[in-house]
Amino acid sequence: MCGIVGYIGDKKAKPILINGLLKLEYRGYDSAGISTLENSEISCVKNKGRVSELNDLAEKQNLDGSIGIAHTRWATHGKPSSENSHPHMDNNKAFSVVHNGIIENYSELRDFLTKKGYHFLSQTDTEVIPNLIHYYYFQDTSDDSAKFLRAVKRACDDLNGSYAIEVISSLSPDRIIVTRKDSPLVIGKGKNENYISSDIPAILSFTKDFYLLNDNEYVEIFKTGEKFYDRNLKSIKKDLKNIDWDATAAEKDGFEDYMLKEIFEQPRSIRETIGSRLRENEKTVLDDICLSKEYLASLNKIYIIACGTAMYAGLVGKCLIENLCNIPVEVDIASEFRYRNPIIDKKTLAIYISQSGETADTIAALKLAKSRGATTLAISNVIGSSITREADYSIYTHAGPEIAVASTKAYTAQVTLLSIIAIYFAETLGSCNKGLLNELKSDIFKLPEQVEEILSNLNDLKAFAKEVHREHDVFFLGRGNDYAVALEGSLKLKEISYIHSEAYAAGELKHGPIALIEPGITVVSILTNPLLLEKSISNIQEVVTRGAKTLVITNQELKNYSFDMVLRIPKTNPYLSPVLSVIPLQLFAYYISKEKKLDVDKPRNLAKSVTVE
Ligand code: G6P
Repeated sequence: MCGIVGYIGDKKAKPILINGLLKLEYRGYDSAGISTLENSEISCVKNKGRVSELNDLAEKQNLDGSIGIAHTRWATHGKPSSENSHPHMDNNKAFSVVHNGIIENYSELRDFLTKKGYHFLSQTDTEVIPNLIHYYYFQDTSDDSAKFLRAVKRACDDLNGSYAIEVISSLSPDRIIVTRKDSPLVIGKGKNENYISSDIPAILSFTKDFYLLNDNEYVEIFKTGEKFYDRNLKSIKKDLKNIDWDATAAEKDGFEDYMLKEIFEQPRSIRETIGSRLRENEKTVLDDICLSKEYLASLNKIYIIACGTAMYAGLVGKCLIENLCNIPVEVDIASEFRYRNPIIDKKTLAIYISQSGETADTIAALKLAKSRGATTLAISNVIGSSITREADYSIYTHAGPEIAVASTKAYTAQVTLLSIIAIYFAETLGSCNKGLLNELKSDIFKLPEQVEEILSNLNDLKAFAKEVHREHDVFFLGRGNDYAVALEGSLKLKEISYIHSEAYAAGELKHGPIALIEPGITVVSILTNPLLLEKSISNIQEVVTRGAKTLVITNQELKNYSFDMVLRIPKTNPYLSPVLSVIPLQLFAYYISKEKKLDVDKPRNLAKSVTVE
């Protein structure tokens, strides 16, 4: 959940580390800190609060080293405070560590170290790490240059849980040692310098060449080179990977916030996700997966597992796959799936959706299905992310880096990709008539332009959002895919405006929630399926009668009805309509958040990548 950065080279580390932390703040932002090494001495500054505050503090200190590690925190153990901020040091200040993840057995390790005479200054799980390293360093009687590495490895052998760790030491002042387990970490290679980060965009403006670290690998990083080791410290070779994301794509590009920029990027991200996969009158190409007709025909169930927005994209995927492929699909929340003993066997395909590819529950749910014989397919936006390395097959959305905590362009890219996968499965199986598949393909090709059209006419929506921004409850209604979008619209509003909201399947309204409808309450309805139109309109009438203020998002003709606002979106196949109907909902939440003067990109209590349970 936290973000980590590191630098070793000729330049001063401090500005590079601060720059990286600012880009990583969306991973956690309750405290931050940096340590640098100079003349075999470690200097450390850390503070509760945002990176900008750390920067002010660091300005006043002598942090001139050209080797350094840094961290931005989202608290898990111990409240946000200066003592609990990273980096953490051992009692003798010989080792400084930043850590992303959770050490589950930290209290046993604390007891062990306390008995050996160590004491602790923080409430964190992390503080055991530098002290364990110190302990093992001085247990080791040999005196060679690998002593530091061995101590880190022996300490990590004692850790249960997840971690990405950077360590510097005054006893080996020419290197940074890093390792990871179930938590992301990349190394960016420069000329006579190396960068480290938990996330590619943070260092993308410095280099495009990356080493992607696997679990339990260790690296000694020097100014001019790096040495890789496996879990037994046997030397290994790793290939550099060129990541051709545009560094400016990770910046705001003149938009007021990342979220707004990402909303407006959707025509492009949908277009790039379609790429050359979809072809009119030809079979869909998904190079990355190879699932035969026999295999697909043998399936008795497909699971789609994810968290948050990605799970809501999965609900749209279910509708597509069930209807085009005639295979039952169950969508589940990863944190539920992993603990509910789901029925899985060789005839199960488990699809995992994760923008970051690092969500702890999604990864654990994937490991579970894999261990029980299912074939696993990951859908992710981040190349080389943990989930893609665990899965049997991976396929990428090409949404580019998503920085705002509230997911927008990743959702529309996920739904687009799920529709392409459903078509690919249907073509492979021969389960659906070609006419419908061709119609769907041509509707998918139109989506980017249709999103542009929605984005070009937003004034009425902005005005409606202004009217609503002081309210305490908002309801979202829809049926079928419109219900799936209602869930996502409601989540967006909660996340960034802090207004309580609920999404209901419109037919459920009478089974309870209608009791909450009173004059003035806002109800947002989505109406895009002509087959369900009449029924949904009746449901909206029921709330209008009770005095609700209504916003209706639709691509249908709605004559003779009086709603407070009707926002028209272009027509498309109902299977695909979520890609279009979600856009006004994203902006509705955005405008309300701005009207309330909230931090749109970094909403309170949330983090972009939930790498802990
Ligand atoms: C967090 C984010 C959400 C995201 C969810 C799943 O809660 O704030 O925006 O939908 O994690 O993330 P993933 O990276 O797995 O898609």
